[in-house]
Amino acid sequence: MVSEHDAQPAARSGVRSDAQVLVASNRGPVSYTLGEDGSLDARRGGGGLVSGLSAVDDKLWVCAALGAGDREAVRRGVAEQGVRMLDIDAEVHADAYNGIANSVLWFVHHMLYQTPLEPVFDAEFRRQWASFETYNRAFAEALAEEAGQGAAVLVQDYHLALVPGMLRELRPDLRIGHFSHTPWAPVDYFRLLPDDIAEQLLHGILGADRAAFLTRRWADAFIGCCTQILGGTGRTRIGVHGLGADADFLRRRAHEADVDERMAALREQTGPGRRTIVRVDRTELSKNIVRGLLAYRALLDERPEWRERVVHVAFAYPSRQDLAVYRDYTAEVRRVADEINAEYGMPGWTPVVLHVKDDFARSLAAYRLADVALVNPIRDGMNLVAKEIPVVSDHGCALVLSREAGAYEELGSDAVVVNPYDVSATAAALHEALTMADDERAARTERLAAAAVALPPQQWFLDQLDALRRD
Ligand code: F6P
Repeated sequence: MVSEHDAQPAARSGVRSDAQVLVASNRGPVSYTLGEDGSLDARRGGGGLVSGLSAVDDKLWVCAALGAGDREAVRRGVAEQGVRMLDIDAEVHADAYNGIANSVLWFVHHMLYQTPLEPVFDAEFRRQWASFETYNRAFAEALAEEAGQGAAVLVQDYHLALVPGMLRELRPDLRIGHFSHTPWAPVDYFRLLPDDIAEQLLHGILGADRAAFLTRRWADAFIGCCTQILGGTGRTRIGVHGLGADADFLRRRAHEADVDERMAALREQTGPGRRTIVRVDRTELSKNIVRGLLAYRALLDERPEWRERVVHVAFAYPSRQDLAVYRDYTAEVRRVADEINAEYGMPGWTPVVLHVKDDFARSLAAYRLADVALVNPIRDGMNLVAKEIPVVSDHGCALVLSREAGAYEELGSDAVVVNPYDVSATAAALHEALTMADDERAARTERLAAAAVALPPQQWFLDQLDALRRD
């Protein structure tokens, strides 16, 4: 945490930054909290983009103000060097982020709809879509204003799918890239969207010189949509860049004192000598936490020999709590975990240890002591947890991995692979992972870790930049 005094004055006075590398994303690298005494605290985030961009000079990150603290920071002219936060009208932002990005585009790409009743594209949807256009236009205009001649602009994710097309019109001199961190929907599912909206989204991304994805599968799905709906991808190049784990950072951070403390606390909770099945996720609909719990219950039910010998350590951190469907899902995760503990628990053994408060040091502690990692999303762009656990694991960890995670393309051959909807098969996979011979588990972990770090964040970012400038 840094205080307001540590932050730099904003580079805003009508003078454009003339940056040569610009990144645009909804969530930026820093967020502000407004204290009761009026103070502003800045919290810096991590992740692939933060790490990747650190390798570049002469850069600007354009992001949205997300909460009251961020908005106040913009009003007071407080900003980190190299970051411009856009104070888009709060209602417009809520429509664009909660209404369209998270409730429509996220649902389409992760195929989350219960289609007998949803989606419904009505007048309310059209109203929110107009906000989504306004929000994308605010980004396009800010980028057009800030970019130096011929600069490279890397636009991130479904939130900003319309930006490349809008920016191309404003500044034809720029090199524009778009990167999707999510899966891309297959064409039959993408066509749930109203036809004009589907076309507008594809044209928006095709405004970029390059559209890039985390895996070949998602890139092919995008090409499939463009081909069938528009007749082709036009002049836009398609790229694949499979973001890897940041081994140097993770290994260093995972051996700091606070992580050791949390390992001791977790061992206390799980009990001596017990095996652990670890999962760490945002409480996100696509992460399939509930079916993971049901598979664990099936394991305890069908293979009683595991009772008292294993603990499911499940970290499910809050996400998108403005949306009722996420709040309901969070409640369901708690309910099923409680149910398992009530049904199978006994003095000295709590079958499920569920933590819902975000704590990065505790996540790393769980990574280190996991015997089995459960990563079973119903659909996921990549899933970095699947890559991080083998890198950090102290004594080798068997990975139970969904074939619907992007990480499956790189890690599938050394994981125990599951269909995420098949709870019985997931229970059998957990048993297989728990009984894997020590030498096999160690050898697989070594290969998983090598595959996981093949493309570290800085290289991932620089590769995109090089390709954008070259193509
Ligand atoms: O997976 C796509 C992604 O944009 C990630 O980059 C990020 O972890 C998440 O979704 C964003 O979540 P939020 O809605 O909390 O910003």
